[in-house]
Amino acid sequence: MIEVENLTKYYGDFLAIENVTFQVQKGEILGFLGPNAAGKTTTMRILAGYMPPSSGTAKVAGFDVVEQSLEARKRIGYMPETVPLYTDMTVESYLDFHATIKGLRGKKKQQRIDEVLDICRLGDYYDVIIGKLSKGYRQRVGIAQAIVHEPEVLILDEPTIGIDPKQVVETRQLIKSLGRDRTVILSSHILPEVNMVCERVIIINEGRVVAVDRPENLSAALKGSEQIQMEVRGAIKEIVASLRELKGVQDVTWESAGENNIFTVDCSPGSDLREEIAHLIVGKGWGLINLQTKRMSLEDIFLKLTMKEESEA
Ligand SMILES: Nc1ncnc2c1ncn2[C@@H]1O[C@H](COP(=O)(O)OP(=O)(O)OP(=O)(O)O)[C@@H](O)[C@H]1O
Ligand SMILES: [Mg+2]
Repeated sequence: MIEVENLTKYYGDFLAIENVTFQVQKGEILGFLGPNAAGKTTTMRILAGYMPPSSGTAKVAGFDVVEQSLEARKRIGYMPETVPLYTDMTVESYLDFHATIKGLRGKKKQQRIDEVLDICRLGDYYDVIIGKLSKGYRQRVGIAQAIVHEPEVLILDEPTIGIDPKQVVETRQLIKSLGRDRTVILSSHILPEVNMVCERVIIINEGRVVAVDRPENLSAALKGSEQIQMEVRGAIKEIVASLRELKGVQDVTWESAGENNIFTVDCSPGSDLREEIAHLIVGKGWGLINLQTKRMSLEDIFLKLTMKEESEA
């Protein structure tokens, strides 16, 4: 349904994305995961036909987004990162405006607006001025606007950003249900979110695709890197040697922090060695200043994936 090949975009001299290639099957929900400035919005805007790539091609339902822009755009619903909502319009008149732009007329148009209000659970808000809606409800209006012409492909740029947890849950459910009979690409920088909603995930960093996989595989791969970090007073060599003897310890590294040293222990997947390690350290008479599991930030994950790619290449 979506075929992206070697998409590259320069803003002036600045290379924003480089040789981005992926496919999305019909009916699939694909997550586009990446930190700030990774190139998510850039890729999505090109797909939605809002700007051309510097090189490479993108096709939606067989139509090239540059050469056959009109045909491609008919089949795409796009919710940009910041939805340009006209805050003094009511929800219904805003949707009416979009439906008209997309070519809907008369009874069919009204029918579809009512349907979309219903799908996005905006029924009670149809005559409310958009400026008075909460962020989460505005986000729904953004989604409603994107689906009003019944596109086969939905492109949602960070649909849950800045909304409260309850509305996040509802928005995710809405996206999932929309994905039942549509192809969806959504971007996010929240790993658990794409895990929950998406069937496949593309990880993009600094404009390049670093991994494409099913979320469960990604989680499993990343689980292999649980770390415990601790600050200990004692002889480094002996501490490292003792830690390395523990079952489930894959690697130990250390760095000096004044009088004490900070040790980082890589543990095998699923193991929780905190208690055992604390026991060992205290038992040997070393000073255990603190100990904690180190949660991998998204940046750590990207770093790991990027390094993995490089070492495999
Ligand atoms: N119009 C522009 N002119 C110049 N540089 C731009 C422009 N738009 C984006 N960039 C740069 O391109 C890179 C990719 O930006 P992009 O908005 O695609 O990232 P993103 O993954 O969507 O990030 P975020 O998570 O912050 O939304 C960034 O370094 C950004 O500063
Ligand atoms: Mg963005």
